[in-house]
Amino acid sequence: MSNERHILLLPGSLRVGSTNETVLRTAAVVAAATPGLRTTYYTGLGGLPHFNPDLDTDPLPEPVVALRAAIEAADALLVCTPEYAGTLPGSFKNLLDWTVGGVEISDKPTAWINAAGPGRGGGAEATLRTVLGYTGAAVVDAACLRIPLERGAVGPDGLVADPLVRERIGAVLAELAAA
Ligand SMILES: Cc1cc2nc3c(=O)[nH]c(=O)nc-3n(C[C@H](O)[C@H](O)[C@H](O)COP(=O)(O)O)c2cc1C
Repeated sequence: MSNERHILLLPGSLRVGSTNETVLRTAAVVAAATPGLRTTYYTGLGGLPHFNPDLDTDPLPEPVVALRAAIEAADALLVCTPEYAGTLPGSFKNLLDWTVGGVEISDKPTAWINAAGPGRGGGAEATLRTVLGYTGAAVVDAACLRIPLERGAVGPDGLVADPLVRERIGAVLAELAAA
């Protein structure tokens, strides 16, 4: 049996060039260089239907089946989402709503990185804590970090180049993997 820990990376932004995506793509690279860690980047956010309890029944919409399967296959979840209007983007709240009717997220170790600038993104964090509480996910406080992404921190390869930021992302992954 493998001791490898598998972390599902869940971006909360649909924007091309998203800073939150940049952080999670960098997390994937950091994890790939870390023995015992594996990640999967979730790309289905934009394809989820609007949550409707009438659709939350067999047969589930295919994108919802894929989302729940991805969560089930992971040992832990790492979220990186922007804040819109003081809370989560509607599309990401929609994703979380789709997890409530399944059992896959129950007790799943879950953390977030807040990549917003200093003093920003607190509303998204607060909402994440509330909503994840309803989903039954196990929030790993020690792995939840604010890592503001400065302008210019992204290299030509589209990843965070700053070794200190990479180190902090690595610490989040390690904490989450140990949970
Ligand atoms: C419609 C809209 C509303 C926003 N509201 C907030 C907000 O309430 N608080 C905040 O800190 N940032 C807010 N922002 C800024 C975004 O969170 C910020 O630009 C973030 O970096 C976007 O993430 P992304 O680069 O991953 O797309 C808002 C941006 C948009 C487009």
